[in-house]
Amino acid sequence: MREFEHQWGLITGGSAGIGAAYAAGFAERGMNLILVARRQERLEELAGRLCADHGIDIVPLALDLLNPTGFQQLVEFLEQREQPLDLLINNAGLGHFSTCDQTDIARVEQVVQLNVAVLTRLTYQVLPGMLARRSGTIINLASRASFQPVAYMSVYAASKAYVLSFTEGLGIEVRKHGVQLLAVCPPLVKTEFLSVANMPSLAERLAMSPEKVVVGTLRALRRRKLSVTIGFVPKLLTLLPRFLPRYLMAAISLGYLRPEHQAE
Ligand SMILES: NC(=O)c1ccc[n+]([C@@H]2O[C@H](COP(=O)([O-])OP(=O)(O)OC[C@H]3O[C@@H](n4cnc5c(N)ncnc54)[C@H](OP(=O)(O)O)[C@@H]3O)[C@@H](O)[C@H]2O)c1
Repeated sequence: MREFEHQWGLITGGSAGIGAAYAAGFAERGMNLILVARRQERLEELAGRLCADHGIDIVPLALDLLNPTGFQQLVEFLEQREQPLDLLINNAGLGHFSTCDQTDIARVEQVVQLNVAVLTRLTYQVLPGMLARRSGTIINLASRASFQPVAYMSVYAASKAYVLSFTEGLGIEVRKHGVQLLAVCPPLVKTEFLSVANMPSLAERLAMSPEKVVVGTLRALRRRKLSVTIGFVPKLLTLLPRFLPRYLMAAISLGYLRPEHQAE
């Protein structure tokens, strides 16, 4: 069913992983797309395929959201567009898995910048237009890590706690103005993220497919939820911090995420 025919959506991190799966899911349902990521070839290859398969329009925008010039380029592109934006998916995100003594400071700064600052800025960039039209949807990629402190990924988990809280807080506020915000909290997903973030190999074996995230997101949108955790078991696990002390949750993560090469 082409339920989003003639609409336009913008997906950050649309060249790979969950972003590419969102692009396929919304394209299949008739939505025209603006895809943002750094790798031009990947964007163009995906855009060509989705246009041919679904007869939609796609604008691939190759730019670096962490580069002020790249970010400004996107802002200007959005300001000059005549067609309204019906959907924004703030999907581009970074993780950094490391022990405390090997943390790359420049990298954790990028995690905060992309996961928190860019997501917030883009949300407020498109929100006024949506409020004026009393319609529009913003999907922000949080994580199962949004619910608890996580050892070896403390900056990432904290950034995703921000995304969940920000999205739910703003979401309840804008709901009565006809705009929908949804925070999506996936568990481990089989994408390049795991290797980019330097995650232990165990993570790969436990990961779900990005397509499952898309299905869960679409269901949550129809139910007009403020946030959704993807998967039954992950959903149950998000309840644990309500019953266990937070220090215990942190200590558990210390155990199961311990880097394989590290003795203690
Ligand atoms: N995979 C998981 O286990 C998991 C679990 C929970 C939540 N999430 C969240 O889901 C979202 C998507 O993750 P994923 O697993 O699909 O990651 P991924 O496979 O690493 O893809 C990340 C996407 O972001 C783009 N990107 C990265 N840095 C960028 C930058 N500076 N400017 C523009 N684009 C940039 C990448 O494209 P280029 O490299 O071409 O720029 C790519 O398209 C993230 O927010 C992540 O935190 C992932």
